[in-house]
Amino acid sequence: MMNADFETHAVVGSTAVDFWFNVGVATEFPDNGGLCFKHEQLQIAVFNFSHRNEWYACQNLCPHRMQMALSRGIIGSQSDEPKVACPFHKRSFSLRDGQCMNGDEPAIVTFPVKVEDGIVYVGLSKKMLN
Ligand code: FES
Repeated sequence: MMNADFETHAVVGSTAVDFWFNVGVATEFPDNGGLCFKHEQLQIAVFNFSHRNEWYACQNLCPHRMQMALSRGIIGSQSDEPKVACPFHKRSFSLRDGQCMNGDEPAIVTFPVKVEDGIVYVGLSKKMLN
């Protein structure tokens, strides 16, 4: 279950993907915004970073106060690093490696994203869903 168990959840590189989770049609995502999806117990924030023409995904859970909130966060860039700022207390996390960029919160889990034929997919590993 995807909770505060950060030690058992590592950043998933593309090579660790067991399957690609279909999260819908790319044009239905807000520009420069995110949507939340659930796969079993896992809540995933998926971002259409249209300003950079990039897509990102991470856990929806903010580790600061354990709020399911990151999909509603503000995305932006800091020294070219894509980031999401939690809407509650503005902790920011890299959308590449999940590191907290303005505090000492634990890193969040990030996931690879691909868009094929207009459909958005998030790469997941089975281990993560156990
Ligand atoms: S709950 Fe996210 S920054 Fe506090």
